[in-house]
Amino acid sequence: MARILITSALPYINGIKHLGNLVGSQLPSDAYARYMRAKGHEVMFICATDEHGTPAELAAAKAGVPVAKFCADMHVVQKDIAEGFRLSFDYFGRSSSDRNREITQYLAAALGREGLIEEVSEKQVYSHADKRYLPDRYIEGTCPNCGDEKARGDQCENCTKQLNPTDLINPRSAISGSTDLEVRETKHLYLKQSTMRETLDKWIDSQEGWPILTTSIAKKWLHDGDGLRDRGITRDLDWGVPVQFDGAPWSGMEGKVFYVWFDAPIEYISATAEWADANGAGDEAWERWWRVDKGADDVRYVQFMGKDNVPFHTLSFPATMMGSGEPWKLVDFIKSYNWLTYEGGKFSTSQGRGIFMNQALEIFPSDYWRWWLLSNAPESSDSNFTWESFQGGINKDLADVLGNFVSRVTKFCRGKFGEEVPAGGSYGAAEAAVMAEIAKRLKVYEANMEAVELRKAAADLRAIWAAGNEYLQAAAPWTIYKESPEDAAAIVRFALNLIRLYGVLSGPYIPDASKTILAAMNASDAAWPEDLEADLSALPAGHAFTTPEVMFAKITDERRDELEAQFAGED
Ligand code: MF3
Ligand code: ZN
Repeated sequence: MARILITSALPYINGIKHLGNLVGSQLPSDAYARYMRAKGHEVMFICATDEHGTPAELAAAKAGVPVAKFCADMHVVQKDIAEGFRLSFDYFGRSSSDRNREITQYLAAALGREGLIEEVSEKQVYSHADKRYLPDRYIEGTCPNCGDEKARGDQCENCTKQLNPTDLINPRSAISGSTDLEVRETKHLYLKQSTMRETLDKWIDSQEGWPILTTSIAKKWLHDGDGLRDRGITRDLDWGVPVQFDGAPWSGMEGKVFYVWFDAPIEYISATAEWADANGAGDEAWERWWRVDKGADDVRYVQFMGKDNVPFHTLSFPATMMGSGEPWKLVDFIKSYNWLTYEGGKFSTSQGRGIFMNQALEIFPSDYWRWWLLSNAPESSDSNFTWESFQGGINKDLADVLGNFVSRVTKFCRGKFGEEVPAGGSYGAAEAAVMAEIAKRLKVYEANMEAVELRKAAADLRAIWAAGNEYLQAAAPWTIYKESPEDAAAIVRFALNLIRLYGVLSGPYIPDASKTILAAMNASDAAWPEDLEADLSALPAGHAFTTPEVMFAKITDERRDELEAQFAGED
C-alpha cells in the first residue's frame, strides 16, 4: 500500500471563504483523502490557514483588532467551518506557527548556501501619512497595463498583470488614501529562481498525466518570462516570519519579514510537523512524509488548488524545494480547478453575492453542498451554481435515487419481515445482472477516483445508486410477496446488502449519510469491497438493522425561490 500525502491550498485568513473556494481545493481533496483511506492507504491530509501578508494585516485593521488576535480568532472560525463540512484533515495548521517560522528560516538558509539568494536594493514606496512602507496591497492606483483604477501594488485583478508598487500610476495608500508618498531605496532579498528555469522545465516535462490546466499554466509562466523572474521574497512588514537564517540575523534585514507566498507553501511541511508535535511524536514522524532521505521515497504527494495558485505550486515552491539542494519530497500530481460562478456571475465578497461557507451550513446539511459541489466540480471547465440546479441535484440524486431506495427497502422489510435481514429464497439472474452492472461501474468509479476526476466519479456513484433503484422497481418485492414470500425475502436481502454497499461507496462524497446508512445497517465497520459478490452477501439472514428517518428532505420550489432572492446580493 502506498502512502499518500495530500495537501489543499491554504485558505487566506482574511475572511470566510465562499463555495467557489471550497470546491477549488478543500472539498475535492477531502473526497480524495477519504477514498484513499477507505482503500486502505496510509494518508496524511494537510491544510492550514495562510496568515501572513497584507490581506491579513488589512483585514485586522478593518476589524480594529491586533493582527495576531485577528488571525487566532479567524483560525478557529475557519477550523469550525471545516469541521462543519466534514473536511477530514489530519491536521489544520497555522502558517504563523513556530514550526513554520523555523522551517521557513531553515529553507531560506539552505537557499542562501546554494547561492540562490541575492540582496537587491530596490525602490519601495514610503507613506509619510502612515509612517511606513506600502508593499503589495497596501498601495493602490492605476494599472500601467490596462488603465484599471483599482490595481494593487502586487497585481492588477482586472488584467492579472503582476505589478510592483512603483509601477502604479497615481498611487495612493490603501490604509489612509494618502498620496503623500515617496519612493525610497530599501534592501530586499531575491530568490534567483530564473536560474532554475531549465530544471523546472525538465521536471514538468517528466511528469505523467498531469491535468492540462496545470501544465498549460505552468508552461505559460515558464516561457512568457513574467513568472520566472527573480522574485523578492522579503517585505517591510511587521507581521510575518522574520528574515533570519537558521535563526541568525542577516545584516540589513532587521525588521523585515519573508513574503507571504514564500512561507505559505512551506506551511504544508510545517503543518505536518505541527501534527507530529500535537501527537507527541518526534521529527521522524513528519520527516517520513517530506524527506526522501528519511523514508518519503514511497510517498505519493497530491496537491489541490484553484487555477490562480498553479504558478506558485508548479514553479515557485518547487524552486524553493529543489533550490535548497536537499532531498525534499516534491509533488507528484497537481490537481487544479477552474472557477465556480454564481448564477452566471462572479462570487463577490464585497457585494455579498453568492454563498459563503458559514451561511451554507446554516441552510442545508453539509452532505447537500458536498454532493452538488463535487458532482458539478469545475474540473474540465468553469461551472455555474444556480439554485435550480442545486435543487435538482439534491431532489433527484439524493432524495429520489439514494434516499428513496434506502427508505423503500427498509420500510418494506420492516412491514413484512421485521427489522432483520430476511431468510429464504436465493439470488437469481436478476441479482447476477445487477451485480455485473455494479461491478463494471465500480471499476470506472475507482479509476476516476485514482485519476482525481471527482466529477466523473460522482456520476459513476450516481449510476451505482440508480442500478439498485431500477432493480428494485423491476423486481417489485411488494408484488412478489403475495405469491412467494420466500422470493420477496431474497430480493429484500439483496437490496439491504446494496444499501450497505452504498453506505461504503458514498463515503467520499456524503460522509454523514454514509455513516447514517452504515449505522442503520448495523455495519459501521464495513470496508471497501474487494470481492463484490461476497460483499453483497455480507449481511446474512437474521442480521438486525434499523429503519432510518427520512435521509434527504426535498427542497421545495418556494424554498428555492426564497433562497434565490436572499442571496442575490446588492447589485
Ligand atoms: N492563500 C492562498 C489563496 O487563497 C493559497 C496559498 S496556498 C499555499 O490563494 F500553499 F501557498 F499556502
Ligand atoms: Zn491591469
